[in-house]
Amino acid sequence: MRVAPGGASRPHRHEALEGIVVLEGELVDSDGTVFRAGDCVAYQAGSAHHTASPGGCTMLVWTNGAITAAEADDAPQDLAGARSSVNWHEADFSLYPSLPANGDPIYWADVACQNSDTGEGFYVVQFPPGAASALHEHMGNEEFTILQGELIDPDGAVYRSGDCVSLEPGTKHFSRSPNGCVTVACISAPLRTIHTRKKKAA
Ligand SMILES: [Fe+2]
Ligand SMILES: [Fe+2]
Repeated sequence: MRVAPGGASRPHRHEALEGIVVLEGELVDSDGTVFRAGDCVAYQAGSAHHTASPGGCTMLVWTNGAITAAEADDAPQDLAGARSSVNWHEADFSLYPSLPANGDPIYWADVACQNSDTGEGFYVVQFPPGAASALHEHMGNEEFTILQGELIDPDGAVYRSGDCVSLEPGTKHFSRSPNGCVTVACISAPLRTIHTRKKKAA
């Protein structure tokens, strides 16, 4: 979404999780918090707010449900508890908590993971050079955006920085990143690990 200088959203309520990534420019939330390039921000279901961008911005917006109109009075001044954020440039990445026993190390910075066992939620994923995810199946849509580097699917598709990808429910795949990458994952339904791949020699 590209917001023109001076653009603003109407007050709205999220019926489900909403995630945004500011790609360039600045976005000002209804409580006055300013989000800048690299900020990954999540709003919990039921939260309400409105945003503005005095200088204009470009952002990725993802939601797992409807956005409905709200009254300005419904947008609280204190969004603590309803909003979480991480700047992926400065994130403190740690090992993803539910990797298969012999899976490659893959790191993450949580923004709003709803269930780390099933992968549902909104979070940043970092593949070190040469890492591959285990073969898995998505029960719902898998959506992700490459923030840095490249990610390669088994069919040869190469996703590069800036690519926004949507994979249909039922997709079975694993992803590998010969040179490393950072992505933001938007997962709306459980994923199921089918089996783990053993790392191939380079
Ligand atoms: Fe919103
Ligand atoms: Fe996947």
